[in-house]
Amino acid sequence: MIEFKAFDNGFEYIQVTNASASAKIALQGGHVFHYARQGEIPLLWVSEASDFEYGKAIRGGVPICWPAFGMNNPSLPQHGFARYSMFKLLSCNEINATKTEIILSLQDSEESLKLWPHRFRLVLKITLSEVLEIGLETINTDTNEFTVTQALHTYFQVSDISTAKVRGLDNKPCLDALTNKRFTYSGDIVFAEEVDLVFQEVDGGIGLIDSGRDVKITSSGSSSVVVWNPWIDKCARMSGMAKQSYKTFVCIETANAFDDFKVIKPGESHTIRAVIQ
Ligand code: BG6
Repeated sequence: MIEFKAFDNGFEYIQVTNASASAKIALQGGHVFHYARQGEIPLLWVSEASDFEYGKAIRGGVPICWPAFGMNNPSLPQHGFARYSMFKLLSCNEINATKTEIILSLQDSEESLKLWPHRFRLVLKITLSEVLEIGLETINTDTNEFTVTQALHTYFQVSDISTAKVRGLDNKPCLDALTNKRFTYSGDIVFAEEVDLVFQEVDGGIGLIDSGRDVKITSSGSSSVVVWNPWIDKCARMSGMAKQSYKTFVCIETANAFDDFKVIKPGESHTIRAVIQ
């Protein structure tokens, strides 16, 4: 079933329910802010203090950071403008009883050209089944090449951050965004303080090991992964977070960030994809 809904303030979203899963996708940002397999607790975390308001990014789910990750392009707002932009619904397709596909798009506008002077089209394909699949295609519709960095900034729900582990990044080059130091990471990532790590040359799946369940993330079109938890002090300072929020989520972001930027020529495209199971 596909339903078109809105919060009391008019903030619109699409609600999908099929035999495998349920999901909610906001038209602002093409933002998946709920996904749960039938009979299971939600896979995605969303803050109880999050705003669902036009012009403000939802805190949780899968923000689309585009055309810049973080402050990779200092002339743009942090994580770019896609997460604040209204996507257009191109199609909803109930492929079968267990699989639904939603396709949204965003293209350049007068406002986007003021921020970023390039003509583009984004096609965001979200497939909801036993797995959550998100593919973001960037098409250069301009006459000059442009460079993008980006992320599918996924907030995963965990039962307890102090016992959660992220696996699959052992021996990968890493930039610690808190100290700006580059080094080779060793072992699983565990959380006992603020973590903001950008991994490069990632070519295999990533595992999130939580006491309740294990999650696997595979990706294509991306060789960088960001692992982030704000911990106590940053969490308390951040918009859309409750004081204790840091305890119940970790972000594992399928990205093209820092050294893994993409140069897209006129008429060409690049797709970044994450499959979460
Ligand atoms: C992560 C960054 O991707 O996003 C962090 O690595 C940042 O440094 C976090 O704090 C959240 O960003 P924002 O803009 O959504 O508050």
